[in-house]
Amino acid sequence: MIGVFDSGSGGLTVFKALRETFPDQHFVYYGDHGNAPYGNRDADTIYALTVSSLERLFELGCSLIVVACNTAAATGLRRLQQTWLPDRYPDKRVIGVIVPMIEAMTGVPWSVGSDNSLQAHTKETVAVFATRYTVESRVFVEETAKRAPNVNLVQQACPSLVRLIEANASVEDLRRAVRRYVTLLKRRLGEKRLDAVLLGCTHYPLVEDLFAEVMPRDVEIYSQPKVTASSLADYLARHPEFACGRESSVTFYTSTEPEQITKLAKRFLSDSSVQFQALP
Ligand code: DGL
Repeated sequence: MIGVFDSGSGGLTVFKALRETFPDQHFVYYGDHGNAPYGNRDADTIYALTVSSLERLFELGCSLIVVACNTAAATGLRRLQQTWLPDRYPDKRVIGVIVPMIEAMTGVPWSVGSDNSLQAHTKETVAVFATRYTVESRVFVEETAKRAPNVNLVQQACPSLVRLIEANASVEDLRRAVRRYVTLLKRRLGEKRLDAVLLGCTHYPLVEDLFAEVMPRDVEIYSQPKVTASSLADYLARHPEFACGRESSVTFYTSTEPEQITKLAKRFLSDSSVQFQALP
């Protein structure tokens, strides 16, 4: 079983792409809605909430978990993978959504790591839009520097976007918010030409069109659902023991009252059959 974890509903954008790419897999989605949003919390709290959510998914029988939440991944995915996991669940694996974005943008795969001689990127200036916590963690900056130290990564926090998207704000309100954040970013860019944009939050694919409206046409926008799905395909090809074909099914769990969550999920997934339930 493959688990997909997010602080709430945003990870459904990633989950949707995973489901479309792997229609035969058995997925369990867990949203820690009871504690969301994570993006404005402190690092220790986010780490503790992430660990306890992953434990729940492992207890449900997942052997591989995609941490679809940037904020959770930013707080300590490396620490989790290098210490907590080998110690507590040595046979299980956790993968994230941030490194695949950096790999896609730089063209430098995980296996190359910090061997700068193998840089395939041609980009000079790249913007990342994310939650306040993800920006403060500098994880996008650090992971980019390991693979492509010449890329200048300019970050912009968008603290109100998650809330507006979840509140089903009008397109006009969303457009205004996106334009405000893009303007703030451009001010910091000055004369520099932007080569690419990373949407570093699970919710932003839902407003990708609004970002595209204010970007020059030749600026490539990297969105996590597609990038994560192809990264998982690559991972499963290298580790087929974590694939679970033949059992195609999906279960949605939440840490809070499922009825409200189900309503929001139908919108995120454009699927009226989705039904969340409380954890067993
Ligand atoms: N899922 C979070 C992320 O991708 C956004 C929502 C939150 O702040 O919890 O950063």
